[in-house]
Amino acid sequence: MNKKGNIENHSKIKLDIYKKYLEAYLSIMINVPNYDNISIVEPFAGKGKSNNGENGSAVIAKNVIESIINNNSKNIRLILNDIKYCEDLEKNLQPYKEDIISCSNKDANEFIIDVLSQNDNNKTHRLFFIDPWGYTQLKGETYQKIFTAERLDFLIFIPLSHIYRFLGNGRRFKSLKPIVNFLSDVGINEKNAENCSDVEEFLEEIKKAFREKAVTEFVYHKILKTKDSQHCLLFSTRHILGAEKFLEILDKIDRQQYLFLPEEPIFIKHIYHQKKTLTNCELYEYGILDSLLPKKVGSILKRLESNNKITVVPKASTRRKGVFYIRNKDKKIEITFK
Ligand SMILES: C[S@@+](CC[C@H](N)C(=O)[O-])C[C@H]1O[C@@H](n2cnc3c(N)ncnc32)[C@H](O)[C@@H]1O
Repeated sequence: MNKKGNIENHSKIKLDIYKKYLEAYLSIMINVPNYDNISIVEPFAGKGKSNNGENGSAVIAKNVIESIINNNSKNIRLILNDIKYCEDLEKNLQPYKEDIISCSNKDANEFIIDVLSQNDNNKTHRLFFIDPWGYTQLKGETYQKIFTAERLDFLIFIPLSHIYRFLGNGRRFKSLKPIVNFLSDVGINEKNAENCSDVEEFLEEIKKAFREKAVTEFVYHKILKTKDSQHCLLFSTRHILGAEKFLEILDKIDRQQYLFLPEEPIFIKHIYHQKKTLTNCELYEYGILDSLLPKKVGSILKRLESNNKITVVPKASTRRKGVFYIRNKDKKIEITFK
């Protein structure tokens, strides 16, 4: 969420992957005989809904669980925590069953240690969803517990380009200390990280560290790009089936992103764009997300307009004929897909 409490585009993608992964994960786990219980754990759950009414991770998880749970299924629990917004979260989740969903307002470190210390006779499988703002809040020992816990998969969302940009400056600026701590807590060699020639190489360093710490080869990522930042969703599991499902979801998302319908580019049908009306600024972002440069977006829109597939309404001043202002930072036009 941004400062206004609204969900930004990269977060929408993150939530879409989270939703799809939860659906796949739960539909498999309810049939795996080894476990009686499945817990979805969010130490940084947020309010459950953004200020503009969009569902956040907690409400998404609740909806997926409710769609999957049935009388015969295993015990599925959604264990939520937010140090600040627990009350809002409880309100936004209403109505909910307390034997399925719990909310607490602890510091995430304490919460995670509590969850991991519950004795369940090895009958619970856990999926942890660790959100940004969160990643520097966790202590080294908490990461260590997560990495070494049995029967635990996790998804962690990190602001990749932000961390990369500040590599090497941590000792000079006190405000960057949490980033330095994070790197050391997850076992990233700072010198190696500083020597990375680009963000992608740095990401490989992170994955290598995660693999070593979590003692698993199954660490995957999805980079989520916006105009001026790159976030990354990292997934770690010890189980090949968990890995397979995550890859399937990435593949599906990639195919949906790049698939072109005849005469109609996917960025219109794009799973993240559940809106029918988009501004030029949004189309710029969606185009980049779909690896479509502004020029390409413009030429596609031109074709759609000449085929009468869109309407274009100027926001303030009049529009120059045939211009879509994709590179413009101001909201110049609204485009509605018919
Ligand atoms: C980005 S928001 C969560 C968004 C949510 N996961 C979603 O996708 O809809 C991060 C949340 O972490 C909470 N938070 C920050 N530091 C925390 C801490 N040390 N312990 C627990 N919660 C914390 C904040 O109150 C904030 O609501």
